[in-house]
Amino acid sequence: MRAELRLLRLIIPYRGLLVVGLGTTLLASLLDGFTLVLLVPILKQLFGTAGALRSGSTQLEGLMDRVVDPLVAGLTPGQAAARLVVLLAAGLVLKNALSYASTQVSVRAQEGLVRDLRTRLFGHLLTLDFGFFQRTRGGQLISGIITEVDQTKTVITASLLSFFRSLVVVAVTLFILSQISLRLTLLTLAFVPFLVLGLQKLLRRLRAHARDRAHERGEITATATERLGAIRLIRSYGEELRETAHFKAQAERYRKRVIRTQRFSSLTGPVTEVFSGILVILIIWAATKPGLVGLGAPLTPEAVIVFLMAALRLTSPFKTIASFPAVMAVTLASAERIFGLLDQPAHEIEAPGDEPARFERDIVFDQVSFRYDDGDLVLRDISFTLAKGRVVALVGPSGAGKTTLADLLPRFHDPISGQILMDGVPLTRIGRRSLRSLMGVVSQDTVLLNDTVKANIAYGSPGATAEQIEAAAEAANAGPFIAVLPQGYNTVLGERGTRLSGGQRQRIAIARALLRDSPILILDEATSALDTESERLVQQAIERLMQERTVLVIAHRLATVRDADDIVVLYSGGIVQRGSHEELLRAGGLYRRLYDLQFRGEETALGVRV
Ligand SMILES: Nc1ncnc2c1ncn2[C@@H]1O[C@H](COP(=O)(O)OP(=O)(O)OP(=O)(O)O)[C@@H](O)[C@H]1O
Ligand SMILES: [Mg+2]
Repeated sequence: MRAELRLLRLIIPYRGLLVVGLGTTLLASLLDGFTLVLLVPILKQLFGTAGALRSGSTQLEGLMDRVVDPLVAGLTPGQAAARLVVLLAAGLVLKNALSYASTQVSVRAQEGLVRDLRTRLFGHLLTLDFGFFQRTRGGQLISGIITEVDQTKTVITASLLSFFRSLVVVAVTLFILSQISLRLTLLTLAFVPFLVLGLQKLLRRLRAHARDRAHERGEITATATERLGAIRLIRSYGEELRETAHFKAQAERYRKRVIRTQRFSSLTGPVTEVFSGILVILIIWAATKPGLVGLGAPLTPEAVIVFLMAALRLTSPFKTIASFPAVMAVTLASAERIFGLLDQPAHEIEAPGDEPARFERDIVFDQVSFRYDDGDLVLRDISFTLAKGRVVALVGPSGAGKTTLADLLPRFHDPISGQILMDGVPLTRIGRRSLRSLMGVVSQDTVLLNDTVKANIAYGSPGATAEQIEAAAEAANAGPFIAVLPQGYNTVLGERGTRLSGGQRQRIAIARALLRDSPILILDEATSALDTESERLVQQAIERLMQERTVLVIAHRLATVRDADDIVVLYSGGIVQRGSHEELLRAGGLYRRLYDLQFRGEETALGVRV
């Protein structure tokens, strides 16, 4: 569907507000016209020509005489003028009160639209597959959620209300003008097509430029967020100047885009202004020509004044109407980008036939193969069984596919062939939410949010009490270091938890999984080496976490593989060995080599006897 229509559909919930807004706008415009024509009798009283229809008098003057005469009957010209001025002032106050009300109403409607669209976009992004986030720069998404969504609100203020207001003002003003002199009005109007055509030509290319500008704005947001997030890296390698130069180039590209877009959109003002200047002179000249005004005599001075004022009032609404395509071009460029994101197929949707997950027996990998997008196979023909209550350790060199294999269990990805069965039911038939509710995941690099310790541990366990949170932290050996943080459990951890050391972050993540207390645990042990004391604390925490659970662990620690019931050795996407630690050591091969390289050092450090 076209972006215009989709935007209009989003306005439907606010139709009540819009009707009020349009209604007040209509009233305000009518009052506006009324205060304008009230000038005619006031000027007449001041010029001392009241009640006398002279040659060159217009229909409007006759009309106003009939309306105003009863109001001022029996008054001196001075009193009459004063009374009319009071009426005019009252009309002005009321008109502006109505305009104000209409603006307030439209702000409510537009901000409602913005909130709805923003929330929908954010919610939709959470359903997209991981691949999307790898292909798309985060800054483009942030710019979409913040800037582009804000841009769409002009559809209400600029398009609907201003456009409508302009139309009403034009109609009212044209009526007034035609009551003064129909011919002169038509003469004035004859100029409008030139204005509109001239502007149209300018605006045709604006939408494409606006789209480029929006893209460039996303890029600049992306660069800023990425690079500021990598401040440690930049400092360590002394790349500040080059980063600034890189950013400057980006800012320069954005500058060019903005200038190019503005070149078109800001031409509308001057073009309209020159146009109205010419029009004024033309009207004054024509007003003195009886033939042109069609009255047998030149217009009376008060009629000329009101005609000029009315005619000049036309330029602003005409400008609005004429620049409407420009404003809409920018809005629609933003809307297209937002709808482009909303049209990304949701990946994480629950299908109607999805079964709830049940886990009593085992999880079976049956000839599972997988590749990312259209790359090479990363896993091939993987078959093994993870029985309830057992611990399976995955070991293998870096890049062997261990993390990828573990990611298949919570259905972060689905196999391209073969299947994974939980109690005999293929995972693809089980709803993702329900499946994941059975699982606790501790990933290779710990993810912490800029929130309190408490909130970070309770993430994913919204109902947890303070006692439960503290118990989990104690079991994860995190209690002591949390106790000495400035606000204890209420300490905010800083962006990505940078307040804590690596080992402390790991223990928070373990506490999180402990609190969730799910029957299945997927544990990707961190590869970063910790000092012996820290290592011992983390290892203890991991052992508590693994107790009485079904565990798939990607093991980088000797203690973990020794305790595993079954070890699966992965090499380049395939299983090359399986068995217990002792069996595999005896058998030699890849496990033996990995053991010599990776684990042996730990024996002496931890005092473990093999
Ligand atoms: N998102 C991705 N898109 C494309 N290829 C990927 C992606 N993630 C991983 N790969 C590739 O898949 C292979 C396996 O990666 P994986 O992360 O599973 O290795 P790993 O065994 O966990 O390694 P490590 O021990 O270093 O963590 C690697 O060759 C990697 O380049
Ligand atoms: Mg990995």
